[in-house]
Amino acid sequence: MPTRSLFATQIYTAPLQRRAARAFNGRLMREIHQLRADDAAGRRWSTSNYPGGGFTSYSSASRMHRVSPTFAALERLLAPHLRAFCRDLELDLAHRTLAMTDCWVNIMPAGAVHGLHLHPHATISGTYYVQVPRAAAGLKFEDPRLAYMMAAPPRRARCRPEHRAWVVVPPVAGHLVLFESWLRHEVPPNPARGERVSVSFNYGWF
Ligand code: NI
Repeated sequence: MPTRSLFATQIYTAPLQRRAARAFNGRLMREIHQLRADDAAGRRWSTSNYPGGGFTSYSSASRMHRVSPTFAALERLLAPHLRAFCRDLELDLAHRTLAMTDCWVNIMPAGAVHGLHLHPHATISGTYYVQVPRAAAGLKFEDPRLAYMMAAPPRRARCRPEHRAWVVVPPVAGHLVLFESWLRHEVPPNPARGERVSVSFNYGWF
């Protein structure tokens, strides 16, 4: 083929584990609800920084893998996925290991939104979905080259995903998404009735 694809942007999605996902998610849900009840600082921060009535422990309890055995188990279950993704990316980490630096919870009720952002000071980021109501908002990724496309025509409506400027990855309970931390993403307003609950995390190699 005369045309080749370069400058790949890779996104990893997979079920976290083959079995016991339901029981594991039940444990996570109990701890996440307890955290929201206990974490007054997080509730205050979410009121002014997490629009639409959601709760996130991003600013208040952001190292859950260090304080809870359940979240530490999540870190262990994520490890083989992280290794697989790093292999696919062909990262040369110069004998250093990627370590989980942050791990926090997100509860998004109907109408909650998480605006466009990236994860500074991190290498790989991701999310694990604990509870996903029907028709819940997905994770929307933006083409990192978008700012350079001064005179680029739009793509055909049914073009392949790799040609789209935005791609939405639908959330699935028990599944995870990994991406490089510089890739901008957002969660559009959640149209679903129930709470969309996830755990997000960052890994660093420095
Ligand atoms: Ni994010």
